[in-house]
Amino acid sequence: MNWLEEITNLRNYVLERLGKVQDRKELDELKLEIFKRKGKLSELKKFFDILKDEEKKNFGLKFNELKNELERIFKEKERQTTSREEKFLDVIFSFPSKKFYLGSQHIISLEQKRIIEIFAKLGFSAIDSPEVVSEKDNFDYLNIPSYHPARDLWNTIWIKKKGLLLRTHTSAYQVPYLKNNFPPFRVIFIGKVFRFEATDRRHEIQFNQIEGLSVVKRPEGNLGELKGVLKEFFEMFFERKVKIRLRPSYFPFVEPGLEVDISCFCKNGCEFCSFTKYIEIAGAGMVHPDVLKRGKIDTLTFQGYAFGCGLERLLMIKYNIPDIRYFLSGDLRFIKNFS
Ligand code: DAH
Repeated sequence: MNWLEEITNLRNYVLERLGKVQDRKELDELKLEIFKRKGKLSELKKFFDILKDEEKKNFGLKFNELKNELERIFKEKERQTTSREEKFLDVIFSFPSKKFYLGSQHIISLEQKRIIEIFAKLGFSAIDSPEVVSEKDNFDYLNIPSYHPARDLWNTIWIKKKGLLLRTHTSAYQVPYLKNNFPPFRVIFIGKVFRFEATDRRHEIQFNQIEGLSVVKRPEGNLGELKGVLKEFFEMFFERKVKIRLRPSYFPFVEPGLEVDISCFCKNGCEFCSFTKYIEIAGAGMVHPDVLKRGKIDTLTFQGYAFGCGLERLLMIKYNIPDIRYFLSGDLRFIKNFS
């Protein structure tokens, strides 16, 4: 038998059988018989091996024609033999599934990771630090005794157990770290801090800080290096050129203490920088010798610098976020912007 005959025979066979099909079950059986892997249709493929090139082409054309025709006929027959109930199920199963939001990491977690990566490039390791700390670590050891007016700068959330509190700043881990490690080191602590404050656009009861601490042999690790490190960090973080301005300021645990400003995104002054072209971004300074001594550091051999800044503030500047309260709001419209 030649191939054309076989194709015609198969076609006639299928049409005849289809004519007798009563219900969906019979139809499915027939469909399987024809289309399964070693079914009647693929039996015909043997001609691909037998025929010569010229004929193979003609056979291929006819074979595809038959296949397409049978598929079409079966589809049509399926439609006719499907019961109402089955049709209903078909519809259900062929509905596009509801799209749902898989979720992602929060902007704070994502950016924390980025910041850790940037500081790694600058030679700083990221260190975990506790959120519940002693009054001594948070205040006394940083030259803020209980009678000192500077304590008022940090509105503290106390814990019932005497002497413990939710850290008001990441600086609270400076002395514990100094005590337990031998210089030289350059580290960052990054994490949540807590303030007992009325919230508004710029204040939140809980936010995140990045603290840097470097202690190395003199004369390395001086203010010049601090300025360079901050410039590099801010340029990598904001992905643009940044000018750094250091202004004298007061933090009891550094001497001299500095306020760090970076050049604003604007050219000629804007409302955001109050037309000063600079934005306040961090506190910093040379670690106070008293603090180093409490950390059992030999201050004749080593010197240190430290800096601290608010993570949310950096992000508000970078992404133009108008209100710090968005970060903890759980509002998906906000969160999805950064997934
Ligand atoms: N801990 C300070 C605060 O929360 C910020 C700060 C200022 C950290 C100066 C430092 C520093 O390490 O040197 O306001």
